[in-house]
Amino acid sequence: MYNIIPQPVSILTSNDKKGFTLHAGTTITPSPFSDIFISFVRKTLNKKVREHEDTGEEKSIILKLDENISHDEGYTLRCENRRVFINAKTEAGLFYGLQTLMQMLLQTNGKLPYTLIEDYPRFSYRGFMLDSGRYFFPVGDVKRIADLMALHKLNVLHWHLTEDQGFRVEIKKYPLLTQKGSVRSHTNFNRKPHGGYYTAEDIKEIVGYCRKRNIKVIPEFDIPGHSSAAIACYPYLSCLDRKLEVATHWGVKHDILCAGKESTYRFVFDVLDELMQLFPGGVIHIGGDEAVKMRWRECPYCQKAIRENSLRDEDELQAYFMSRVNDYLKAHSFKSVMWNYDLNRADDIPADIAWTVCASPADGKAMKEEAMRGRKLINTAAFPYYLDLPYGWNTLKRVCSFNPALTDNEEDTLGVEGCMWTEYVPNMKVLERKAFPRLGAIAEAGWAQKDYPSFTTFLYKAEDYLKLLDVYSVNYTAIKRAHPSFAVKHMSSLWFRRRVFHWQGLYNLFDDAAAKREAEELREKLKNNCE
Ligand code: ACM
Ligand code: ZN
Repeated sequence: MYNIIPQPVSILTSNDKKGFTLHAGTTITPSPFSDIFISFVRKTLNKKVREHEDTGEEKSIILKLDENISHDEGYTLRCENRRVFINAKTEAGLFYGLQTLMQMLLQTNGKLPYTLIEDYPRFSYRGFMLDSGRYFFPVGDVKRIADLMALHKLNVLHWHLTEDQGFRVEIKKYPLLTQKGSVRSHTNFNRKPHGGYYTAEDIKEIVGYCRKRNIKVIPEFDIPGHSSAAIACYPYLSCLDRKLEVATHWGVKHDILCAGKESTYRFVFDVLDELMQLFPGGVIHIGGDEAVKMRWRECPYCQKAIRENSLRDEDELQAYFMSRVNDYLKAHSFKSVMWNYDLNRADDIPADIAWTVCASPADGKAMKEEAMRGRKLINTAAFPYYLDLPYGWNTLKRVCSFNPALTDNEEDTLGVEGCMWTEYVPNMKVLERKAFPRLGAIAEAGWAQKDYPSFTTFLYKAEDYLKLLDVYSVNYTAIKRAHPSFAVKHMSSLWFRRRVFHWQGLYNLFDDAAAKREAEELREKLKNNCE
């Protein structure tokens, strides 16, 4: 009868009993988010709903907190006797009940039969990652993303705020980070500069906007790799005090934060102090991905840290670095998350750092071991949850067919997340084309029960889903193109692979040789200073 995305746990309807019709006089219990519902109804059905305390009258939508609902984000929704009752244990549950009701009203033009819905999420973490580092997305865009996330019952905005190509969050103690570090001289697309950053006020506004939609914001401060923009502002952060520019192009950079100098840790802790103020949600993502060890192998400070802390090698030095950052956050009652990408010896990483698992191992065994150690795991598998990758690779069918659970035990997986890397995503138009409809399938993986998402049912529900997206004028990809034919698939793949033919690899080769010479000079200088 209804085609809700993500699929609710159970829906029962009957034509024998009285349902509910939305009228001009319909009222809704006042709540922090009733205005979201009211404007949706005005826009889609051209009906005015008013906030009004429950007087038991007909025509009302009654929201009620109810201790008897067992799941924190769960709700029940009943349409009967010309009323709608939404009961939930928390405000989040009420909000999700209203989101479901919005889809039901849209599909029935406001005339609901007797309906009984019981619903709760499969996973508690249902995320979307926005990379604001490569391209800056203004406050209005981020709010729009929050609106669209709310429609999908997604509850975590993982906000990638620092990158080689831009440092996007104002840090009062290090003003250069945004004065200089938020602008790159040109981009993948043209020779024009690109820049932008979020002030403390902007962040406050976005965090508040998200909170009203039950979305928690987890900022990412990507360290020790992906730090070219910060190093461009403060060269002492790198092993060899190198003078870099904010990166103009994509690719893995070899100059990363020095893990041997205490001044690096001071900087990192100072930035975290401000991030903890700006993002009071208690969780910070600390990156950890693609931290190549070229400079650390040559750097006298890093080598000294390895010796003094009896570490085996540079991989263990990264574990030491991440652990110190994690300890700092823990001391402030914050939790940390990091990527499991390019971690050569994952078992050195403290188990209380959660992982966004983008590189999934071929078998579930490694994940099982991590879960046994108590590590929280979020499934962000690049295939198929990287939403920037072409539809030819991560087809809608592939997203639908993917098992979100990382082990055979459901409890081992905290949740799922769709990731929008923006190296080749300069604006919302492109972002939406890539995110939708795939994000709909990821939302089902995160919320709906085990049989979902299913490609067959997704296709069945797609027409209503796209109508919902139309309400927000979303620039989605047509269903047919979201699982392209063999030929189109290979064409798009070839087009996308052109990224690989890039000067970064060649540049690194020459630059590594130069860095080696600089490291040699530094070692000599330090030796002479000691003598
Ligand atoms: C990543 O794919 N760099 C986490
Ligand atoms: Zn170093």
